Amino acid sequence: MSTNSFGRLFTVTTWGESHGPALGATVDGCPPNIPLDASMLQVWLDKRKPGQNKYTTQRQEADEVEILSGVFEGKTTGTPIQLMIRNTDQRSKDYGDIMDKFRPGHADITYWQKYGIRDYRGGGRSSARETAARVAAGGVAREVLKSMLPDLKITGYMVQMGPDKIDRNAIDLSQIEQNPFWTPDADAAERWADYLNGLRKSGNSVGAVIEVIASGAPAGLGAPVYGKIDTDIATAMMSINAVKGVEIGAGFGAAELTGEDNADEIFMGQDGPQYSSNHAGGILGGISTGQDLVCRFAVKPTSSILKTRKTITKSGEEAEIITKGRHDPCVGIRAVPVGEAMMACVILDHVLLHRGQIGENQGKIG
Ligand SMILES: Cc1cc2nc3c(=O)[nH]c(=O)nc-3n(C[C@H](O)[C@H](O)[C@H](O)COP(=O)(O)O)c2cc1C
Repeated sequence: MSTNSFGRLFTVTTWGESHGPALGATVDGCPPNIPLDASMLQVWLDKRKPGQNKYTTQRQEADEVEILSGVFEGKTTGTPIQLMIRNTDQRSKDYGDIMDKFRPGHADITYWQKYGIRDYRGGGRSSARETAARVAAGGVAREVLKSMLPDLKITGYMVQMGPDKIDRNAIDLSQIEQNPFWTPDADAAERWADYLNGLRKSGNSVGAVIEVIASGAPAGLGAPVYGKIDTDIATAMMSINAVKGVEIGAGFGAAELTGEDNADEIFMGQDGPQYSSNHAGGILGGISTGQDLVCRFAVKPTSSILKTRKTITKSGEEAEIITKGRHDPCVGIRAVPVGEAMMACVILDHVLLHRGQIGENQGKIG
């Protein structure tokens, strides 16, 4: 059964394990004649790569991506693009202790129960090293989108660490690149630095909420009823390691609103319909409205912590475990570029689907 691929026309199949020689993605369905070289993908991988500051894992991976196929003379050929990232800083001995024990909060126990074999070195396939391959594939999607939707902009950022949320009135997108947390609220970044420092020193961890916005997507992406773009965004985000919840637009907050407050009113603008607000997150009936596509996802606290936890062994004996090795105290930080990459892949897939289904939107307004 093939469950390592996603997308319908722009498909991404990831492969590889945390402590194997390499991992990567096979990208199929990429249109031809799109300028592409490894440096265009590397910028996104550099955003995700570990060891960049004291708030992320100290595993040192260059995360250098190589393009093995599908590109000729600097342009895509329309054939499968094979992307490969070599693992260079594996320290399998860090994981000797977990050969027989299941780490709480990790996939060790379920992989073992299901398959009866597991690569215990850093979680193998369940490790979030896999998300490097998604980021590389997302880079390909972005290059295609540049030519198909030049106004599209995908921006991800952290809006909450633990219980501490950003001040929505203080959002300044130019701040995102200025702090290690990819947050648009400079004050929140300062608070989080202190908070995370304390947690890191005590060997503990914390969760986070990430928001990803795509502006400049046209109306009409997504189709009834199992090809809704919100369904696909939610699936894509939920498939990221450690994600435990996904919201679109007002999300769970919509349940607290009245119908009068929630339904975004429609006005006629100079260039077509405009909306008074965006509780719908830019999607009605699974089809994009042309407003910003807005999604948020919640990431659980890092499970590998320097605290003694109770567990069991493969033979069913009770045991204790401290997960040594190198880990992110808040995996939400490095999940930001992963969320952006997934959004890029979903949007491109829907742009190609839309082209196949409709070509151009059929219903005119005004
Ligand atoms: C970018 C990223 C980095 C991660 N790094 C770690 C880590 O260092 N330590 C850890 O315990 N979990 C980490 N995780 C989460 C685990 O991979 C994940 O919790 C585990 O595989 C179990 O899967 P699940 O939480 O989706 O059920 C990371 C997740 C992401 C998105």
